[in-house]
Amino acid sequence: MEKTDTVLEEMLKNFEEKINRGDAIEPKDKMPDGYRKHLIRQMSQHAHSEVIGMQPEGNWITRAPSLRAKQILLAKIQDEGGHGLYLYSAAETLGISRSELINQLHTGKAKYSNIFNYPTLNWADIGAIGWLVDGAAIVNQVSLQRTSYGPYSRAMVRICKEESFHQRQGYEIMAKMMAGTKEQQEMAQDAMNRWWWPSLMMFGPHDGDSPHTGDAFKWKIKRHSNDELRHKFIDKTVQQAEVIGLTIPDKDLKWNEAKGHYDHGAINWDEFYRTINGNGPCNRQRLAHHIKVHNEGAWVREAAEAYRAKKEKAIFNN
Ligand code: 3HC
Repeated sequence: MEKTDTVLEEMLKNFEEKINRGDAIEPKDKMPDGYRKHLIRQMSQHAHSEVIGMQPEGNWITRAPSLRAKQILLAKIQDEGGHGLYLYSAAETLGISRSELINQLHTGKAKYSNIFNYPTLNWADIGAIGWLVDGAAIVNQVSLQRTSYGPYSRAMVRICKEESFHQRQGYEIMAKMMAGTKEQQEMAQDAMNRWWWPSLMMFGPHDGDSPHTGDAFKWKIKRHSNDELRHKFIDKTVQQAEVIGLTIPDKDLKWNEAKGHYDHGAINWDEFYRTINGNGPCNRQRLAHHIKVHNEGAWVREAAEAYRAKKEKAIFNN
């Protein structure tokens, strides 16, 4: 047998033993190409989601109803930008450049979460995003804290600490509106109706329709399936909605004692695939804005690169 085959076999054996032991895979470890590609795909899409997600919320900074609300929203949006940077940095440890990651977003090669392709029509939407979207993200990201790739897992631990504040501030907005005037209650319920189903779609297709879940479980990238996490999110959110008087817009929602979770109505997968394939309500606007601002910021990147090169030259010339 060729020498290279035995070396490759040895590498694969060491990798699988580390995965089976539940040890973190680190950037310097030898890993199968498929593992590396799977992680670059998922981590980059996660990072893109964090950054694109700043747009719908940023739309309401100048129109926040109070200084306190504006401060909280600014802090949340700043957090999301930071989450994107953690995740881009973690993805770069897999051997892909930041410029290539951004190029994949701009050319449509890489996706970002469906949820950020919907418009934010009023202040209740900011509450719904914090409560539902960040609430769904927390369920997914708490599970991802145990993902097998070290840099991704550590990024998740850091991000989850901030997500709980995001979810609480959204829920506070919804609770305040439900305790407000009839118009405010109607606004909050309308936002609930518009954001509920796209939030369920955030967890991805049903397990049987997910082409990546098999590998994700084999390599311990995913520790729970899409449907498991979706049910976890529904079960906790239904109770929260009841407490403040919001109605879940799903006539088929029913507690299933035998399964220990709520059964829910059919999800509109046509809408999901239309949206993730670029034809949602705001896809073009989101991408055009990102490309425009990225190009406008080119001078900052060039200046930082020039400064780095100059510093490096000074260090090596001494
Ligand atoms: N939005 C866009 N695309 C989605 C999607 C979604 N909600 N759910 C699934 N997809 C895509 C997948 O990317 C895949 O397409 P691809 O092959 O072109 O990448 C296809 O649909 C099949 O889906 P799978 O379930 O087989 O794919 P995964 O195994 O990757 O699972 C996932 C999908 C559960 C979203 C997983 O990728 C994941 O956990 N990603 C990390 C979490 C994440 O990205 N969250 C996004 C929101 S971040 C956020 O909300 C920030 C908060 O602070 C506001």
